[in-house]
Parts: sequence; C-alpha cells; structure tokens
Amino acid sequence: MSLFQIKSVDSIVAESECAGQKLSRVLGSFDVTMIGIGAIIGAGIFAMVGAAAVKGSAGPSLIISLIITAIACGFCALCYAELAAMVPIAGSAYTYAYATMGEIVAWIIGWDLILEYAIGNVAVAISWSGYFNDLLKSITGLNIPVWLRLDYHTFLLSLKDLPAGEAAASLAAVPHLFGIPIVVNLLAVSVTALITWVLVMGIKESTRFNSLMVGIKLAVLAIFIVAGFVYFNPDNWTPFAPGGWTGIQAGAAYIFFAYIGFDAVSTVAEETKNPARDMPIGIIGSLIICTIVYILVAVVLTGMMPFGELKLKIAEPLVAGLEYNHASRWLIGLVSFGAVVATTAVLLVFQMGQPRIFFSMSRDGLLPKYFARVHPVHRTPHVTTIWTGIFVGVFSAFFSLDAMAELCNIGTLFAFVLVCIGVMILRHKEPNRPRPFRAPGGVFTPLLGIGFCLYLMLGLGFNTWVRFFGWLAIGLVIYFAYGYRNSRLRNNAAACS
Ligand code: ALA
Repeated sequence: MSLFQIKSVDSIVAESECAGQKLSRVLGSFDVTMIGIGAIIGAGIFAMVGAAAVKGSAGPSLIISLIITAIACGFCALCYAELAAMVPIAGSAYTYAYATMGEIVAWIIGWDLILEYAIGNVAVAISWSGYFNDLLKSITGLNIPVWLRLDYHTFLLSLKDLPAGEAAASLAAVPHLFGIPIVVNLLAVSVTALITWVLVMGIKESTRFNSLMVGIKLAVLAIFIVAGFVYFNPDNWTPFAPGGWTGIQAGAAYIFFAYIGFDAVSTVAEETKNPARDMPIGIIGSLIICTIVYILVAVVLTGMMPFGELKLKIAEPLVAGLEYNHASRWLIGLVSFGAVVATTAVLLVFQMGQPRIFFSMSRDGLLPKYFARVHPVHRTPHVTTIWTGIFVGVFSAFFSLDAMAELCNIGTLFAFVLVCIGVMILRHKEPNRPRPFRAPGGVFTPLLGIGFCLYLMLGLGFNTWVRFFGWLAIGLVIYFAYGYRNSRLRNNAAACS
C-alpha cells in the first residue's frame, strides 16, 4: 500500500463517532472565539512587539508589519475555516492532510504541529515566568532567584551584560552540583503543571477559565490603549519607517508569533455543537478582533515614546512606554498582571490543542492506542494531556525563549502551507462535497496563503531551518519504526475496532 494512501473524509468522520473515543460536544461559537483570542493574544504582543519594532528598525512602521502579517494569516484562516467546517475532527491540519495528501504527509504534519503547539507553549511558559516574577516583585518586593526562573543558556548570556564583579557574585549565588551551576526554570515547569491539571479536569471548565482570562487581557489592553492615546506625541512618528521596507519585513517575520493561535480553534472542532457555523466564526472572528487590538496597541506604543527607547526594556515594551511617560505604578502593575493572565490563556489553549492532535494520531494507529484513551469521568484525552504537560515542562526548564519561538514559527508556517494546499486538493477531488463554509477568492486565496507563508519562512535563520529538518527527520524514523506498521488505514481496520 502506498505511503500516500488517503483516508476518505467519510471514514474520518465515521471513526470520530466510535464509542469510547468520542469527545463531548459542549462548545458554542462564543466559546470557540474566546479560545481563539485566548490562544492569540499573549507573549507576542506583550513581549515580542518591542523586539519587532527594534529589529531592522521597523519603528512606527511596525503598524504596517502587523497589517502584512494579518493579511497573510487572513488567507490561511479562510482555508482553515473551510476545512474545519467540512471535516470537524480534533486533529486539525493533521487530519486535513490525511484526507488530501496521504498518510506520510499527515504524519509529517502531525509531527510538525508539535513545534507549533508544544514548542510554542515552551516559549510562552518561559515568557510567563519572566512576567510572573515582575508582577510578584511589584506587589511584594520579592524576587525569585534567577536559577529558578531562567534556563542555563539565558543565565550565562545575562552574566555577560553584568560588570565582572557582579557576574561572579551572581554565579556564586547559584547552587552547584559537582561544580556545575544548577539553573532550571522551575517557575515555567510549575505553571505548565497547573495548566495540565486544569485541562484534565474537563474542557467545559477549561473554557470557562479561558473566557475569564480573555476578558481580563482585553480589558487590560483597552486600558493601555486609552492611556497610550493620552501620552501620544506625533513627533515620535517621524521618521515613520526608519528601517525602510527591510525593517517592515523583518518586523513582519518576527511578529508572526503574535498571530499564531487562530488555527488552534480547529483542534476543538470535534467538541463544538455546530462546527459548520462555529468553526468559521471562531477562526476568522478571533483573528479579526486580535488584529484590531494589535494595530491599536502598535499605534499608541510607537506614538508614546521614540522607538529607540524600547531597547532599554525590550522584553516588556508596554511597561517601557508607560514608564517613559511616568505613568502611575498601579497602571504599570496592571499591565504586568495583564501579561501574566494573557500568557496563561495562551498556555491553556495550546496545551488543549496538542493532546487533541496526538489523540487523532493515536486513533489512526500512528501512535500507540494508549494515547487515545478518554478519561472515564471527565471525558478528556487525559493521557495525551499529561504527556504534553511533561514534554512542555521539561523543555521549558532547559531551553531559551528565542530558540523555541523561532522553531514554533517555522513549524506553524509549514503547517499553514500544507493546509492551503489541502484546500486546493480537496476542491479538485471532491468538488461536490458540501462545504458549509467556502473560502472566497477561488484558487487565489490558498495560493496567496502559501506565498505569504513561504516568504515569512525564508526570513527565518539558518539554525532554525537546520533544527526544523532535524525534527522532521526524527519524526520519519518514528513513523517507519511504528506508524508504518500499525496504521489502521494500512491494516484495513474497521472504523471502531
Ligand atoms: N500568539 C501567541 C502569543 O502571542 C503564541 O503568545
């Protein structure tokens, strides 16, 4: 049987109905839009927007970078909405690839999505730990020791910025084991453990928690936008694009991370009451709302201060803008609180998406059946949820934010490309299949989606490409060692066996 064996959309839907492997349908379009916003607004706008403005000197023209990236994501969101409404299955892009490009491509994409969801969450958990420490410090004056809130590599880099005496003192303050300094981001591990526990308890409870957090982060950003307009000084917009077109491009490639997440909505398709309606609303609605918020934040942030000043507080750009204008302490504390809540919401949604993809892969026999177990009481895929928590926790303890964010970007862009290709294939092969939602613009929408994503991928560094191919190679070894032999499709297994 060919490696490119395709699984029909009908059999995919039939299998999802099997007893013991069925997820409960409890979510409506409001819930899924909240899940989308929960996944999108996080470390990107609260932390990375500063580096995006400074990298390549985009400056105020970061507003244009944000619009370009939003357009790129818009084409992909329309493609996701078409497939998610038509094939409402937990596996998202993985399932769409199985139905269009065949098993080996499906495996590659499922494996690749680990980069988006799990590795993306590693980056967010690391960012969360930094903000949490700031918040704690602003409220209580307590400072968690660096060796409990940084990875080893970042810790060594931070020493380089200190005067020699201070660096030596900092190193001496870290516990040593056999002469090796012990630096582990236990703060990131703790938040991952907490989120994992919430998710095992049940999706309805998790989405309530998520909606609350989304409300808080939108309110905090709204307050920031209003305050920003008060401090707005048009002189800060001259020059508007100090880095020219190159700066705008660099900003767009970097800030892509901030938009990742609208696609995560598709991973809960199997748990929505009416996917044909809820999926397009959730995916496109959350992207539009976040785009508007991001543009407003960028407008006020770049108008509040000369963008060069951001360098001084690159990881907390919104706080930098407020401090520059001598805003009150409570406002600064509120923004730190908003950042902690926002990154917690991203963690929650991504941690919800990853197990559902593993769950689909296991249901197809590409991963052991053990991973497809559903909790007898909570009806959640608890086994994959716990394993995802362990994976994210271990990586966030030892790896750096930048490396993880770039890997996440390349993996996500690759998944977007395959989803756009999937739309074209399915339209060609099954033109008459009912499409509750059809992306407008004919073939141009998926083609433009592919073009924009490839363009952004080419903007990522050589090391990221090497890691990306390395990751895919490991995935192929696992496929031939396990999935190739155990695939249900390959073994002609009955739908519910
Ligand atoms: N878009 C998500 C964030 O900004 C990944 O944190």
